[in-house]
Amino acid sequence: MKLADISFLPEEPAHDPEIELINAEAFGPGRYARAAYKIREGGPHARALSFVALHEGKVVGSVRMTPIAAGSGRGLLLGPLAVRPDYKNIGIGRQLVRLALDAARKDGCGVVVLVGDAPYYGPLGFAKIPRGQITMPRPVDPERLLAAELREGALAALSGEVVHVATLAREARPTESAA
Ligand SMILES: CC(C)(COP(=O)(O)OP(=O)(O)OC[C@H]1O[C@@H](n2cnc3c(N)ncnc32)[C@H](O)[C@@H]1OP(=O)(O)O)[C@@H](O)C(=O)NCCC(=O)NCCS
Repeated sequence: MKLADISFLPEEPAHDPEIELINAEAFGPGRYARAAYKIREGGPHARALSFVALHEGKVVGSVRMTPIAAGSGRGLLLGPLAVRPDYKNIGIGRQLVRLALDAARKDGCGVVVLVGDAPYYGPLGFAKIPRGQITMPRPVDPERLLAAELREGALAALSGEVVHVATLAREARPTESAA
């Protein structure tokens, strides 16, 4: 298997069942307890900025991006990223991350955040977020809280609890109707 045998496409609704299977295989039932999952529960992911890797018409890898807010800052949460076991170590994961970052940049996103291993994501442009700058809805090893800044100043604008942007809209509604 070579990377050249794999095609990469923006995610479509038809990919959902296969993506769910890949994530179940990669993360198991424990995925529902993860901090990032809790944020993603707050609203939909950005499908146009999310990508799949396909081999012979089957989804073999997936990365999703979800719009987030933290204080006055806005950005995207990258994940889950998963590749089917038989397709690991040929560069699919890295290519999915690169595609997602490029799409985010073109969409005007200033910063992409994730919870993951620095040795994997460091070469792709991610670095540790200063400890205490942002908090997640569930405990996270601060060594694994990483960001890729796509526009200067966008990372510094993130502060406090990270939430799905849809959560803000829901919180704003009662105030708006009261005004
Ligand atoms: C992590 C994952 C997405 C990588 O996908 P992949 O397509 O195999 O990755 P790539 O082929 O682009 O990169 C492989 C390289 O990354 C390394 N690597 C893989 N996982 C790593 C990790 N957690 N930390 C450090 N390096 C890692 C491999 O050893 C390999 O190194 P090499 O190029 O020196 O041989 C895949 O292993 C996976 O689905 N894992 C289970 C789910 C998961 O942990 N997702 C990440 C959540 S943050």
